[in-house]
This record gives sequence, structure tokens and C-alpha cells, in this order.
Amino acid sequence: MTQPDIRKGLAGVIVDYTAISKVNPETNSLLYRGYPVQELAATQSFEAVAFLLWTGELPSADELAEFRARERAHRTLSPDVKAAIDLLPLDAHPMDEVRTAVSALGTRELAGSGSVLDAGGTPEENLERSQRLFAALPAIVAYGQRRRRGLAPVEPRDDLDYAANFLWMTFGEEAAPVVVDAFNQSMVLYAEHSFNASTFTARVITSTMSDVYSAVTGAIGALKGPLHGGANEAVLHVFTEIGSADNVAPWLDTALAEKRKIMGFGHRVYKRGDSRVPTMKAALDTLVAHYDRPDVLDLYTALETEFVARKGIYPNLDYPSGPAYNLIGFDTLTFTPLFVAARITGWTAHIIEQAASNALIRPLSEYNGAPERHIPGYVPTDDELAAASRPAES
Ligand code: COA
Repeated sequence: MTQPDIRKGLAGVIVDYTAISKVNPETNSLLYRGYPVQELAATQSFEAVAFLLWTGELPSADELAEFRARERAHRTLSPDVKAAIDLLPLDAHPMDEVRTAVSALGTRELAGSGSVLDAGGTPEENLERSQRLFAALPAIVAYGQRRRRGLAPVEPRDDLDYAANFLWMTFGEEAAPVVVDAFNQSMVLYAEHSFNASTFTARVITSTMSDVYSAVTGAIGALKGPLHGGANEAVLHVFTEIGSADNVAPWLDTALAEKRKIMGFGHRVYKRGDSRVPTMKAALDTLVAHYDRPDVLDLYTALETEFVARKGIYPNLDYPSGPAYNLIGFDTLTFTPLFVAARITGWTAHIIEQAASNALIRPLSEYNGAPERHIPGYVPTDDELAAASRPAES
């Protein structure tokens, strides 16, 4: 019997076309709708990049102004979403909190929408829902961090753009322009990355003609894992464990002897370096200078140098973004929810793309369990016997 061609983890399998982004491991490049991500991060607001991912083109000045006005109109934390969050234990993981909040938001938005047959929504409804989620997530993430710190929510500010308002709602004070810029760049860099695990999860759910909120809720679950989005949080735990640059070599000796995966290094697609790292590292350098924290850079450089020398495995985006978010003042547990706020753009662009050219995603498996056996005394009915002898469709 020929062995089936099983690709564990779907590694190397091309499952569909996408016009949203292109990851090229040969040239270490990442394009959003054709534009190199580093050019977008250097020149565009996160709002403009979101618009690009959804529509395929960067917005004109008028389109951006119109989109920003709609985004501002949906920034407030809705009372029922706040109430849903307040029911959760304070020591719940923020990813569980965000997952619940998105689910609660969707439940409210879809209330009265009728049968599951209508769940999928029209392309226009899905774009509208995507934009509302985009606008609502900063309030959810910011409130999560504030409630863990025992602080009241902060109302959004209409005079601030997305990134500045996000920081305002989290910290209750206006961030310096260099901080806003570094944060905006991180959002752009995290926005989209083709068929990664969480995006594929969203596409699988969408392929059943389910709704945007169900797809995003599932994607958040996939993103939580430390092999995916959870790595930016895990990087900070590693930094805390190591403590300082002179501890790197002995710490690595032990970690590698224990066959630990070093968080923030390695990538399923990029094997010679993650295209997003240079831009995020430059943003981290700016933050290190702004906050006057050269010790952070020392530890960062020491671990990278030592690990690359020993294993030849390069940092991924989570490596510079973890310490960057830490310097800005985000709690370590808030890092992966920040990834959600960024990736909502890519997820929803893929949800819209999947719905527009849908095929139910349903692979096959090769059974390797117990051979067929029967419950003693069970007598099959005539119908069961007839069904079992019906010829397979050609
Ligand atoms: N630390 C230590 N070893 C690593 C490693 C890391 N971060 N990443 C890969 N490796 C090693 C593996 O142990 C394996 O070694 P082996 O062949 O001796 O068993 C080899 O490199 C291949 O790793 P594998 O896990 O099979 O590669 P992958 O393509 O499936 O994995 C990741 C990609 C991202 C899952 C993996 O690199 C990883 O777990 N990284 C840490 C988590 C992380 O930063 N995730 C964020 C991704 S953006």
C-alpha cells in the first residue's frame, strides 16, 4: 500500500490564492497588497494600512479622513462589553478577556439577525463589522490593562489618531510623538502575514459561512499560543529570567541543554531572518534612547548575538516588539492583545477574501487507530446494511 503524503502542520502546503500579502523567504520580504511593509511602517498611519488591507489601495486624503471619522465614532467601550469583561476574574489571561469581549460584541451586533443561514453577512456588512472591531479593540485592550491595575477606563479623545488615542486610553496621558510613532509602526508590522495559524483559523471558520465575530474569536484563540502570538509575551518572561547581559551565556547553556525553545527566535517561513525585525529594532532603539534604558539594548543584543552564533536561528518580530511594549509601559500580559488589535486588520481582510471566493476548508486524514471492531450482540438493521453496501461515488 502506498504511504499517504501527509504534511504535518500543513508545512509547505499551498491551500489557496491570496491578494492580501506576500511573504517571500528568499528575499526576506513582506508585501501588503504589493507594498513592502517597511515602507508602509515608515510612511503610513495604521488607519491607512488597515484601509489598504481591506480595499487593496491606500486611501486618498478624503477617504482617510472619512475612515478616521468612522473609526472615531466607534471607539467607546460599549457598556455591555464592559459588563462582560467585569464578570471575568481579574487574574484571567488578557487574551481570554479579549476573546470574550469580541464574542460579547458580536453577540450584541448580531442580535436579531435571524437564522444561521444569514450569519455570513454581505461583503458590505463584513467590511462594516471589520471596521467596528478595528475601532473597538483599543478600548477593550486598554480597559483590560487598566482594570488589572485597579484603574477606571479612560474615555477616547477625538482629536487623536488611532495610535495616540490607544496610548491615551491605556495610560490616561498623552504619549510623546516618538512613542506614538514606534507604537504605530509596531501595529503596521503586526497587521498581516498571509496564512499564519490564526488567519487560517479565521478562514476555516469563515469557510463554513459563519460570521466575522466567530471567525475572529477563533483566531484570537489560535493567536494565544506561545508558538504564535503568545511569543511576544514570552520574550519578556525570558528577559526577566535572564536579568542582565552578563547572564546570557550561562542561561543559554541551561536552556539549550533542557531543549527549550527560545521565544522570539525562529519562524516557520523565514529561515534567514524576519523581514519585519529591522524596522521594529529601529523603533526599539528610538524607545531605548527616549526612555534612557541602554540596559535593555545590552540584554537584547547579547541574547541575539549568542543565540544566532550557537543555533543560526534569527529573531522574529516578537523579539524587538516585546521589550518595545515593555518600555512604553504595557504590562507583559497585554502584549498579545496588542497583537490582536493589529492583526484584526489582516484577519478581517482574509475573512472578506475567503467569503468572496469560498470553498469549505475540510482536509482529509489517514486513520491509524484500532482496526474495525463491534459491540458484542449488536445486530445491524437492514437500512444500515444497505447503506454499508452502497457503492462509493465515482
Ligand atoms: N529555540 C530553540 N530552537 C529552535 C527555535 C527556538 N526558538 N526555533 C526553532 N528551533 C529548532 C528546533 O528545536 C528544531 O531543532 P531540531 O531540528 O534539532 O529538532 C529546528 O530548529 C526546527 O524547528 P521547528 O520548530 O521544527 O521549526 P518550525 O518551522 O516548525 O517552527 C516556530 C517555527 C516559530 C514554531 C519555532 O521557531 C518556535 O517555536 N519559535 C519560538 C516561538 C516564537 O518565537 N514564535 C513566534 C513566531 S513569529
